[in-house]
Amino acid sequence: MTTVHPFSDGPARVAAFSEQSKVAVVTGASSGIGLEVTKRLIAKGYRVVANSRKISSATTLHSKDELKLVDGDIGLQKTAQQVVDTALRHFGRIDLLVNNAGVFIPRPFTEYTSEDVENAIRTNLSGFFYLSQLAVKQMRLQKSGHVINISTSFAGQPVGILPAALANLTKGGLESVTRSLAIEFANEGIRFNTIAPGVVDTPMHPAETHDFLKQLSPLKRLADVAEVADLLLYLESAPFLNGEVVHLDGGAHAGKW
Ligand SMILES: NC(=O)c1ccc[n+]([C@@H]2O[C@H](COP(=O)([O-])OP(=O)(O)OC[C@H]3O[C@@H](n4cnc5c(N)ncnc54)[C@H](OP(=O)(O)O)[C@@H]3O)[C@@H](O)[C@H]2O)c1
Repeated sequence: MTTVHPFSDGPARVAAFSEQSKVAVVTGASSGIGLEVTKRLIAKGYRVVANSRKISSATTLHSKDELKLVDGDIGLQKTAQQVVDTALRHFGRIDLLVNNAGVFIPRPFTEYTSEDVENAIRTNLSGFFYLSQLAVKQMRLQKSGHVINISTSFAGQPVGILPAALANLTKGGLESVTRSLAIEFANEGIRFNTIAPGVVDTPMHPAETHDFLKQLSPLKRLADVAEVADLLLYLESAPFLNGEVVHLDGGAHAGKW
C-alpha cells in the first residue's frame, strides 16, 4: 500500500504504524451503528477519524494514536474539510469512508416542517456530499478506496403505518448515487456500496417503541448494531462488490408478510 502524503511531515506522523493498516473515516460515530462500526474497525487494526457534532463530549470514544475525533455538523463543508484534513495529517490516506450520520423523521407528508426538511437534507445529503467529494479526491490520488453509505430499508420498501417521505427522498438519493458513483469511478479503483438496514436497536429508538418496531420485519425483531458492523466488514473484504445496496432487514424488502 503506497502512502500519499499531502503534508510535509506526513511520513514522520505515520511512521509508527504499519503500511498495511488501513485508514477509515466514520461519521455519526458517537452512538449506535457508527459507534459499533468505529470500535470494530479499530479492533481490526484500522486507524479511524470519527465525527459527530458532539463526539468529544459524548465520551463514548476517546482520542488515541489510532483514533482521532472531530466535532462538527457533517452537513457543513467546513466540517467535511476538517475531517479529511485530520485523516491526512495524522494518517496520510483514506481507504474507507462510512457515511453513517443521518436522521430519520417519520411524519405524514403534509405535516413536515421546513426545519424537518432542512435537517434531513443537511444531515443525510449534504453530510454525504461534501465529505465524499473530499475523500474521493484523496482516493483518486491513491487509486483505491471504498465508500459505504447507510441508507434504510424504508427507502426501497415504504410501509403505510410509518410514513417517512423525507427518508425516502434523502436515503433514496444515497442509494441512487451509490450506483452512479460506482460507475463513474470503476476504472479508478474506488468502490461505492450501501447498507440499507431495517430497524436497528440503537438510541434512535426508545425502548417503548421496540414492540411496534419489531413487527416491521418478517423476522419480528430489531437488528443488532453488531450485525450492521459484520456486514460492513464483509463489504470491505469483498472487492468485486460494487454499486450494491445490501438490505439487512430480516426480509422486509422482499414484500408483504
Ligand atoms: N437505528 C435504525 O433503526 C436505523 C435504521 C436504518 C438506518 N439507520 C441509519 O443509520 C445511521 C445511524 O443511525 P443510529 O440508529 O446509529 O442513530 P443514533 O444512535 O441516533 O446515532 C446518530 C449519530 O449521528 C450523529 N449525528 C447526527 N446528526 C449529525 C450531523 N449533522 N453531523 C454529524 N453527526 C451527526 C449523532 O451524534 P451527535 O448528536 O453528536 O451529532 C450520532 O453519533 C443513520 O444514518 C440512520 O438513518 C438507522
